[in-house]
Amino acid sequence: MRMIDVIDAKRSGGTLTKEQIDFFVEGYTNGEIPDYQVSALLMAIWFNGMTADETRDLTMAMLNSGDRLDLSDIPGKKVDKHSTGGVGDKVSIPLAPLVASLGIVVPMISGRGLGHTGGTLDKLEAIPGYTVEIEEDAFKRQLRDVGCIIAGATGNIAPADKKIYALRDVTDTVDSIPLIAGSIMSKKIASGTDALVMDVKTGAGAFMKDEKDAVALAHALVDIGKGVGMDCMAVISDMNQPLGLAIGNALEIEESIAVLRGEGPADLTDLVLTIGSQMVVMAGEAADLDEARGKLEAKIADGSALERFRAMIEAQGGDGRVIDDPTIMPQAKYRIPILADKDGVITGMRADEMGIASMMLGGGRSTKDDQLDYAVGLMLNHKVGDEVHKGDVLLTVHSDREDIADVERLIRDNITIGEEAEPITLIHQVIV
Ligand code: URA
Repeated sequence: MRMIDVIDAKRSGGTLTKEQIDFFVEGYTNGEIPDYQVSALLMAIWFNGMTADETRDLTMAMLNSGDRLDLSDIPGKKVDKHSTGGVGDKVSIPLAPLVASLGIVVPMISGRGLGHTGGTLDKLEAIPGYTVEIEEDAFKRQLRDVGCIIAGATGNIAPADKKIYALRDVTDTVDSIPLIAGSIMSKKIASGTDALVMDVKTGAGAFMKDEKDAVALAHALVDIGKGVGMDCMAVISDMNQPLGLAIGNALEIEESIAVLRGEGPADLTDLVLTIGSQMVVMAGEAADLDEARGKLEAKIADGSALERFRAMIEAQGGDGRVIDDPTIMPQAKYRIPILADKDGVITGMRADEMGIASMMLGGGRSTKDDQLDYAVGLMLNHKVGDEVHKGDVLLTVHSDREDIADVERLIRDNITIGEEAEPITLIHQVIV
């Protein structure tokens, strides 16, 4: 088989066979096919798409490029959640211990920040001592002892995705439905979970800007999962404005703790409880979503979800005192308020640009080798729909540099104050 024929088949709008897909995934992973040929194929896929069968074959080829975690010796149904990525999206962090506090096993393999979106692993590393690199034996031990873990991929999970993802990042081929679906599901199937709730983001701060693309991605993800016997569903949720009030690594950990104290922002708490309820029903611990939500709320109210978070942090080498005193995490040197310059209602707050503002402060990476500044970010005082008066604090910039003129300009250009705001719906659809 020749790679140029595989490229030609996709460039001309044809359908790739399983043999062609296996050929390019294997050949690229073991270094026999060069970057430039795979780049050309990725761009052809970006333009011409893939059928459901091709997407499944791509997923399986990437899955088979590495190891699979076998969690079958851990009792109980394993239930995971994955987000396609957003700004201020720290849902996984309070969610894993919350669901685990009901005795459900939550093995969460998460990622780092990508572009303007924050990464769950980066946020957790703001906690002194917390480690995300866990060997398979310790991973399983923690699941048995604590019931939840949030860590990076153990061992050699989907190495093909690792290589292809890095190439997509630099060839502008990330936002392709079959490529995203294959990338996510190869890792999720390899991680050994029995059930999965996908949080597919839509809006300005999401990879899928249009809802119809988000719905197509959700169907692709769910179909692949169900095809391998995984219990799978998706929630389509809003990413036009940031989720919650905190953007930035340590700030988002502090907000996650607030959620587990019952003091989190309404939208974030609602999304945690919505996804959590789906997970509880999937695990067979409640007959319906209302019962599941009630059980989760009780675990927040009696403090056991918060204590489970402390146990998870300590099991991963982190300083559990962060639960009582978030200031043990890095704190920014300057807190600079951004004030409203007129009276009115906030009509828009672009999630992607707020994410970029946090990156510019050092909270995200511009290149993959950048060191993160865990302390910095934005704390919002207001969201879309809020009435504000001239001089009110819109948000506070947490910065380690005093001159933030560039960041302030970006923020001001992307928060609009007008007369009337279109209401934002947090949960757009549920796809089963
Ligand atoms: N997350 C992934 O793991 N892969 C993608 O392609 C996009 C988001």
